[in-house]
Amino acid sequence: MSNKTITKKIINWYHEHKRPLPWRDTQDPYLIWLSEIILQQTRVAQGMSYYEKFVANYPNVHELANADQSEILRLWQGLGYYSRARNLHFAAKQVIDEYQEKFPTSYSELKKLKGVGDYTAAAIASFAFEEEVPVVDGNVYRVLARLFAIDIDIASSTAYKQFAAIAKQLICHAKASTFNQAIMEFGALQCTPKNPQCITCPLSIDCKAHQENKTTHYPIKIKKIKIKKRYFNYAVLSRDDNILMNERKGKDIWQGLYDFPLLESINKLCTEDELITWLNENTLVDASNKLTLKKVSKVYKHILSHQHIYAIFYYIHIQNPDTNRKLSDSYHSLEECFRLPKPILIANYLKESIF
Ligand code: ADE
Repeated sequence: MSNKTITKKIINWYHEHKRPLPWRDTQDPYLIWLSEIILQQTRVAQGMSYYEKFVANYPNVHELANADQSEILRLWQGLGYYSRARNLHFAAKQVIDEYQEKFPTSYSELKKLKGVGDYTAAAIASFAFEEEVPVVDGNVYRVLARLFAIDIDIASSTAYKQFAAIAKQLICHAKASTFNQAIMEFGALQCTPKNPQCITCPLSIDCKAHQENKTTHYPIKIKKIKIKKRYFNYAVLSRDDNILMNERKGKDIWQGLYDFPLLESINKLCTEDELITWLNENTLVDASNKLTLKKVSKVYKHILSHQHIYAIFYYIHIQNPDTNRKLSDSYHSLEECFRLPKPILIANYLKESIF
């Protein structure tokens, strides 16, 4: 079957089966960019409410650029991969400062925005500006790998370019925006990772993997991610109904979000005594302070893509607030604690505790 026929079949399938998604009714590059950043590593069903929230709060790039970063992080709470939210803010400011408030209109210029890589630049350039540049996301890898029985490891550094070159031979027979949306939707709904719907698939007679009865073999992904186990011992310090919360800084996870004083231990969670010693040694709490352990939480397991975090929370009352040296201005009322942007682990703890 020719490439042109394959393209036509995918597009016909799309017109019949596509979901009505809000970011498909627009050619506004801001809204498309917003949706694509939200949808990275996020399912459509989960991303939808976040998209609506962001559009309602920041209807244009100007509003987003002028927003407070902690407000953006708060709206992002629960989506994970928080660098996406920080980059979103940074890129909005780039559009205002470097592009005179107008989104760049080409793939190569779009890639200069923070957090915009090959895939996102291609999505915006094609959906908003009809540039003939293919998108390659997980769905597209799968559809093409199966259709043409491609043995390239999709985790390899050159895979994107190689698959984009193959997609380029299909996209030229259609409108770029329609083809790109169509092939992604086809992967999401028809050519699914598990139990692909080959019986009803218009491409099954063209599909090499189907002919060889090897659909589950494709796409090939060799790189295994290594999961690191981490042990987080949190001191939830409370005085006069206020709780100490800090903004996380540095290169680790959750930058810009708030959590409690944290002792990370190796191989296992630490004991209460070890935590108290650490608090005193680090002058988080003055040695003269009387510490009263009020409650120990259950062990929380929090799963991230590359890390499994085991966390325990020691809820501790402290006295002599004025002798608390380092962090006396970091105590927040409960109301503030609920409002601050936090990792879901921390939000869950607060919700489930006695506060
Ligand atoms: N996933 C990522 N981008 C998408 C889009 N534009 N439509 C549907 N699912 C997507």
